[in-house]
Amino acid sequence: MTAAGLQVHLDQAGNLIGVRHGRTPAAPAIRTGSHTDTVIHGGRFDGAVGVVGGLEVARLLAENDIELDHDFIVVDFFGEETNAFGLSCLGSRALVGSLTTQHLDRVDDDGMTLGSRYEGFGLDPSYVLRAGEAFAKKRLHRYVELHVEQGPVLQERGTSIGVVTAIAGIQRLVADFIGRPDHAGSTPMEDRRDAIAAAASAVLAIRQEGCSAPRHGVSTTSKIVTEPGSPNVVSSEARLWAEIRSVDAPWLASAPGRLTDEIQAKAHSFGVEVDLTWWLDNPTVPAHEAVQETIVTAVDALGIEWQPIPSGAVHDAAHIAQLAPMGMIFVPSLDGRSHCPEEWTAPQDIVTGVHALAATILELDHS
Ligand code: GLV
Ligand code: MN
Ligand code: MN
Repeated sequence: MTAAGLQVHLDQAGNLIGVRHGRTPAAPAIRTGSHTDTVIHGGRFDGAVGVVGGLEVARLLAENDIELDHDFIVVDFFGEETNAFGLSCLGSRALVGSLTTQHLDRVDDDGMTLGSRYEGFGLDPSYVLRAGEAFAKKRLHRYVELHVEQGPVLQERGTSIGVVTAIAGIQRLVADFIGRPDHAGSTPMEDRRDAIAAAASAVLAIRQEGCSAPRHGVSTTSKIVTEPGSPNVVSSEARLWAEIRSVDAPWLASAPGRLTDEIQAKAHSFGVEVDLTWWLDNPTVPAHEAVQETIVTAVDALGIEWQPIPSGAVHDAAHIAQLAPMGMIFVPSLDGRSHCPEEWTAPQDIVTGVHALAATILELDHS
């Protein structure tokens, strides 16, 4: 950031910020950026492309002595990927004031709270909670984020740029199945209260929910932990983690009700009790029409082919949209792969994305 001519600091929420001051001191800022954290065994492009893309724009502005009216800010957001507390986008969530003390009290698998994890990073959690208040005083003109698509659409259609129309909302689930420990050899099948069998039926019900979404929807079970986990004992407890996503907000809102009924009915057929906890991690968020139009104007002027595209992945942009008009630019992902080591975007596609981002930022400066 320093090499790109930016003034650098860590903000109250732990986000790394680089600022290039604009001509008009009172003008609200234009922000871009993304994140550099990854999922476990993830790739090198998810997030990093948007941060490096922002830095490239800063370098272009510096090298060509271009002064914008607005401050231009590049952000590397803190903790974007979903963590062991079931929370994504910590940095942007804190900036919009939607990180809560209840979030800070959540406990991970090591028995540590999110608050104590913040302390371990060198941030006072009460200070992080007040980041929204502090940020509300800094005005924001527009937010635009460059990101890899993480899906197959752009490659399949041979399009260089995706103009994001909306970011999918996410419903998350933790389900606790309570059965009964019994001898795996001597307990007749009909007498068992097998928690893992009930959880298995839930996995298939969750999968079917995504498969039968009328317009757009995906559903994933990511983890099951069972007790006692002994080869010769019927499992007495199972905890399951899942999520459902969609840009179809009414469908997403109704999915937990449908699944709760089905998971409960199936669990009872195994003699198992189940306790379900759902939470909306982020709602479905449309990209701002005016920012979409600005991106289209910018890429049309460059003669770049583009198409509208919804985002199944979540992004900090979904939260920042509460503060200012937001838009996103996607570049293709090889074979649609992401959140895996094979994640790849061709250098030329990233260059095209950076040109689109630069041209968009110049347009936004005048909008
Ligand atoms: C982050 O990439 C997410 O969509 O969970
Ligand atoms: Mn990302
Ligand atoms: Mn990711």
